[in-house]
Amino acid sequence: MSTIVNETSEVQLATHLRHSSHRVPDVIAVPAPNVDPHHSPEFGKGKHQNYSALTPDEVDHFVNHGWLHVPNAIKPEYLSWADDLWTRIGYDEHDKSTWHSEYLHLPRHHEVPAEEFAPEAWAKTVEICGGIDMIHPIRERYYGDAFIVSFGSADKTLETEDAPLQKRSSYHSDCDWYRLFLDSTGNAMTVVHVFSDIPERGGGTWLCEDGLKGVCQYLYDRPEGLDPPIDGAHCKHCNDCHIFSQIKAKKGDVFLLHGLLPHTAAANYRHYARIITNPHVCLAAPHNLNRSDGNYTLLEQVILRAMGRESVPEFKPARERAHWYPRNAGFKRDYAEAELKRLEEAATARGRDPKSVDSLYQKKGTKEWDEYETRNGFREPVGTLLMEQHTFGSYK
Ligand SMILES: [Fe+2]
Repeated sequence: MSTIVNETSEVQLATHLRHSSHRVPDVIAVPAPNVDPHHSPEFGKGKHQNYSALTPDEVDHFVNHGWLHVPNAIKPEYLSWADDLWTRIGYDEHDKSTWHSEYLHLPRHHEVPAEEFAPEAWAKTVEICGGIDMIHPIRERYYGDAFIVSFGSADKTLETEDAPLQKRSSYHSDCDWYRLFLDSTGNAMTVVHVFSDIPERGGGTWLCEDGLKGVCQYLYDRPEGLDPPIDGAHCKHCNDCHIFSQIKAKKGDVFLLHGLLPHTAAANYRHYARIITNPHVCLAAPHNLNRSDGNYTLLEQVILRAMGRESVPEFKPARERAHWYPRNAGFKRDYAEAELKRLEEAATARGRDPKSVDSLYQKKGTKEWDEYETRNGFREPVGTLLMEQHTFGSYK
């Protein structure tokens, strides 16, 4: 799962693998002989506070790599949300000639509280964030079925070599609805919920571990902050990075990523439906990078480690904080009524009442709908909106 760049880190990774309680897929290497990814003397030593959900290995892994794999964490009843995928999109699961797009981002029709969706992963999330009180009580507190589907293509199955990671043009962090500062927590964590197995070469997200340092430096140098559309401006340096991990997983797995960890979609060479969702964790307050007691959250420790600092007392945002309607929600929500219509038609074809379809989009005007809109930022002022599905992008 991780990339080895030198002998020292190889030993450390092997140690991690031996002692880790969780399943770690194959190692993928990118040659970079002169890079020392573990520049901090704190490498290997996440500050162990009173964690009960996280093991010491998991604490160390998150602090050192910026992400954590939680296998088999999603309750089965929510994995079945994906059963409706083909009806929603109008493709035939068994006829690939009907798969007209290579890449789709869909809206949500269902959502449940995060702790209900994947209890073990949520317990670890809470500890990574520094406690439940650190987490925003409303925003992004529910997880749902806004699937991101990568289908690949017949042409890609003919490609025998993986495209170079440094050539990907789309490294980014998820930050399309707020002014991004070094200490921002609008997206404190990017979460990947896995709804299909993701095998080798199967389009699992690439994570750029040594890109964190450059992201932090870019934001440190710009106290005025970045407004959407940021379009990965803070991640261009990832094309010069060397430590990459790719998500390979089983259906039901969860990956917890630091919100500033650069990542990008990967080519799906297998021409199957790779299905994930990609919600976030929003905190109630910005990170504190100058704690007098040194009692930093794991999220803060990741930033400090990436910067090689013990604290960053001098950083102050130079503009007020701001947030907007999520920019990418524009095109996703635009599909919702068409998806609902297909679901209702399918219900009718089965002899059921079309109103029996369970979808948030059947609840407009209700209290439940209003709460859904508020939780997901759809009551915020509109800044810029993206109204067309972005493509998979160039990858080689
Ligand atoms: Fe992303």
